[in-house]
Amino acid sequence: MDTEQQVAKHYSHGALENAILDALKASGTKIDRLATSDLAGVDEFHLGWRAATVEIAKDLGLSSAMHVLDVGSGIGGPARHFAEAHGAQVTGIDLTDEFVQVANALTRRCGLADRAHFQQASALALPFKDGTFDAATMIHVGMNIEDKAKVFSEVARVLRPKAHFAVYDVMRTAKGDIPYPMPWAATAATSFVRTPDDYRDMLVGAGFKIEGEVSRRDLALKLWEEMRRKIAEQGPPKLGLHVLMGEAAKPRLANVISTLERGIIAPIEMVART
Ligand SMILES: C[S@@+](CC[C@H](N)C(=O)[O-])C[C@H]1O[C@@H](n2cnc3c(N)ncnc32)[C@H](O)[C@@H]1O
Repeated sequence: MDTEQQVAKHYSHGALENAILDALKASGTKIDRLATSDLAGVDEFHLGWRAATVEIAKDLGLSSAMHVLDVGSGIGGPARHFAEAHGAQVTGIDLTDEFVQVANALTRRCGLADRAHFQQASALALPFKDGTFDAATMIHVGMNIEDKAKVFSEVARVLRPKAHFAVYDVMRTAKGDIPYPMPWAATAATSFVRTPDDYRDMLVGAGFKIEGEVSRRDLALKLWEEMRRKIAEQGPPKLGLHVLMGEAAKPRLANVISTLERGIIAPIEMVART
C-alpha cells in the first residue's frame, strides 16, 4: 500500500454518514434539514475547530465573488462555513472517498449544495486548469504529505495571480518525541510534521510571498479546556470527534494535546500570496 492509500485507509470509517445521522437523531436534531452549526462537533477536524476556520476565512477576505479551493476538505466543515458565512463558491478535494461522499451528503442536508461541492483527488495532482481559483485553503492536511513542495506548486498553478492561500497545519516548534497514534496518523510512517521554517521555504520555493503567520496554540488549548469542563459537567456530547475516529479518538486526542502542551507542536496558519 502506498502512502496515499494508507492515509485514506486511516481516515475511512465504513459507515460514517449513518454514524453522524444517528448521533444527530440521538441528540434530538431533525436531520432532514440541518444547520451547519448542528455539525460543528464533528466536521471541523483540526485544532481550534470552527473558531480557527472563522479566522482563516477572515484572513483570506472571502466574498461571494470568489471561487475557493479547499485542499483536503475532510467532511466539509470549513468549506460549508466559507459558503454559508461568506457566500463563496467552494470546491473541496480530498483523498478519502468516504469523506468526499459524506461531505456532499451533509452539504445537501444543509441546503448548500449549490455553493459547495466535493470531489476525490490528491493534493499532489490537482484536477483543475491553471488559474481556476481566487483563493485556497489547506487545513491540517500537510502532516500527511511528504512532498509538500509539490502540493504548494500545484496550488500556485491553480490560483489566479495575486490570490491568497492559507495553510493551517500542525508544525514542529521544538525538538522532542511526537507520540503516536495522532489524529492524522496511527504511526510515524504516514506522518510528515515539519517546522515553520520548512513551510516558509517551500511556499517561497513554489512562488508564494508570505504575508502573515499566526500560531493558534493558545486558542486550541483554551477550547480544549472548555470542552473538558463541559464534558465533566454534562457528559460527552452525542456528536463529537469520537464519531469520526471511533475507539481511537481517546489516545489520539490525548497525544495531540499533551504534545501541544509540551510545546513540541503547534497549529500554525500561514497566509501566502501568488
Ligand atoms: C485532519 S483531516 C482535516 C480535514 C479538513 N481539512 C478539516 O479541517 O476538517 C486531513 C484530511 O486530509 C486529507 N488528505 C491527506 N492527504 C491528502 C492528499 N495527499 N490529498 C488530498 N487529501 C489528503 C485526508 O483524507 C483528510 O480528510
